[in-house]
Amino acid sequence: MITQPFYLKDKETYLFQKIEQAKKEVKQKNPAIKIWDLGIGDTTIPLCPSVCEAIKKEASKLQDPFGYTGYENTFGRQILREKIGEVIYENHIAADEIFISDGSKCDVARVQHLFDRELPIALQDPVYPAYLGSCHLSGKKKITFLPCTKKNHFTPDLSQLQEPHLIYICSPNNPTGHVLTKKDLENIVFHTLRTGSLLFFDRAYGDFIQDQELPSSIYQIEGAKSCAIESGSFSKSFGFTGIRLGYLIVPKALLYADKSSIHEAWKKIVATLFNGASNLAQAAGLAALEKQAQEYKKNVVRQYLNNSLLLKKSIKKNTFGAEHVPYVWIDLDQESSFAAFSRLLEKGVVTTPGIGFGPSGEGFLRLSGFARTDQCIEASKILSTI
Ligand code: MLT
Repeated sequence: MITQPFYLKDKETYLFQKIEQAKKEVKQKNPAIKIWDLGIGDTTIPLCPSVCEAIKKEASKLQDPFGYTGYENTFGRQILREKIGEVIYENHIAADEIFISDGSKCDVARVQHLFDRELPIALQDPVYPAYLGSCHLSGKKKITFLPCTKKNHFTPDLSQLQEPHLIYICSPNNPTGHVLTKKDLENIVFHTLRTGSLLFFDRAYGDFIQDQELPSSIYQIEGAKSCAIESGSFSKSFGFTGIRLGYLIVPKALLYADKSSIHEAWKKIVATLFNGASNLAQAAGLAALEKQAQEYKKNVVRQYLNNSLLLKKSIKKNTFGAEHVPYVWIDLDQESSFAAFSRLLEKGVVTTPGIGFGPSGEGFLRLSGFARTDQCIEASKILSTI
């Protein structure tokens, strides 16, 4: 018989699966219960009509013998890579350093192949649970949590990391909503370069930043191209959680200790594990970057932020976030995050317990403003009683 790998022995279920299960159980117990789902950050505002038109157009090409396309460039359509470079990075990133993918969660997983099992990992704590999960599933054992708490204003302290690490940074942060300043990111890049580390920067929520002084990309920081990979997503601000489209920036300047190219290694991994993003998703992505859809996106961002402000205002406890990212991070003031989660679930409000994002998330609860506004209004009535 084959042996189970050590990293599958941990029977812990992925956070959002656990929440789905708890939701199901409450519904089974009380079929009449009304559920207001502020759990997973799943989008609810319909797509921009021009994006849907682009998908339809692409789909009809597929039934035409002369328009049909099969496999395309594994790394993504050239025109989309160029458009991302132009619109999101103002031409500061070359198209061939942009790799189109089926969403950042898949990139988070594939990136693991760039590093051997012995590489120490550093994670903001709390943070998006897929980083830790994918590190575990690829057998990484040396994991350091960088607590981001009220005390340090949710800013990670890297000073204890002296050897080269793979450091994950998510800003604006999921779940705390905290955005690192330019100075914070300069310090992080300086540290990364000094220790020969590599940064994985996640800008999934970059479009939600309301203050132009706050960086939405690590490449706004000098030196980052020599030490950082950046993950981008069409999920949250464009509403592509179901369509699936993301990208990873892997600069050519990134090198391993032996001076071999990380960019070339990434090409090998992508070509081996992936056959390119769906042609429909790529056509949608291209349309999403056109002017009309960009305007639409601004309204979408505003609506989600308004939802989270509405939720925030209904809560009598100390809260964070909701300013530059549609998550509210509630300080439970000593109550355990699972106890508060269960208590609210019994009343029909689905939340996410802070502990699910890391040890420093204990004592906090996350609310997602990505829910529909009417759902947020109903949920806020219940939340005002906690
Ligand atoms: C979250 O709710 O933290 C995320 O939206 C989940 C995800 O993007 O996979």
